[in-house]
Amino acid sequence: MKQVMYIAPSILSADFSRLGAEIRAVDEAGADIIHIDVMDGHFVPNITIGPLVVQAARAVTGKVLDVHLMISDADRYVDAFAAAGADWITVHVEACSHLQRTVSRIRELGKRPGVVLNPATSLATLDCILEEIDLVMLMSVNPGFGGQSFIPSTLTKIKHLRQRITERKLQVDIEVDGGVSIKTIAEIAAAGANIFVAGSAVYGSEDYRKTIESLKKLAEDGVTRGCR
Ligand code: DX5
Ligand code: ZN
Repeated sequence: MKQVMYIAPSILSADFSRLGAEIRAVDEAGADIIHIDVMDGHFVPNITIGPLVVQAARAVTGKVLDVHLMISDADRYVDAFAAAGADWITVHVEACSHLQRTVSRIRELGKRPGVVLNPATSLATLDCILEEIDLVMLMSVNPGFGGQSFIPSTLTKIKHLRQRITERKLQVDIEVDGGVSIKTIAEIAAAGANIFVAGSAVYGSEDYRKTIESLKKLAEDGVTRGCR
């Protein structure tokens, strides 16, 4: 059976002076999910988007809003992002001292909880939370900026994570964020990911539809080659 691969353009690389139009453009071009990068200038060295912008995005698309919180105090803000219209809320294991509480709160709010790992964070940090989450997002760049290069060691990490999920008979999505492009996506899919964040690869291209279609096709072919 053909596995469904999901492409999630990150609006971080969109033209912010025309944000509504840029979100509609990827929606109409076949994006499955809209990825929104929230940065606080503390957990990561950049400041981006707050709940107001998520609310504005909610008004222009019916697609899943995947809100990636790169902030030090996620507990304090999950309610606000949920109220703003986020569908998925992902939090960093490195930023949450009470991860189980944060994940439970996201679920209580009726949203899909996910946990994110930085490139140097071990999969072992997921051991006691994997059963409680719907998705794991592996960072394949150090978070903070779009347009960085994919870190190759992420591929082994994806494979190991897929093995753990299969061994435990869980239904957990693996999302990969950073440096996903026409060049890298097939290998990432072959390793075991099924959701692909793509910022500069989509918004930096001339034809969003063509790029999203190519990314999806390459991901599907990659899975076939990876024989999973
Ligand atoms: C990086 C963000 C990413 C970023 C990806 O901190 O979490 O979502 O937008 O950008 P690209 O796809 O350009 O690497
Ligand atoms: Zn992101």
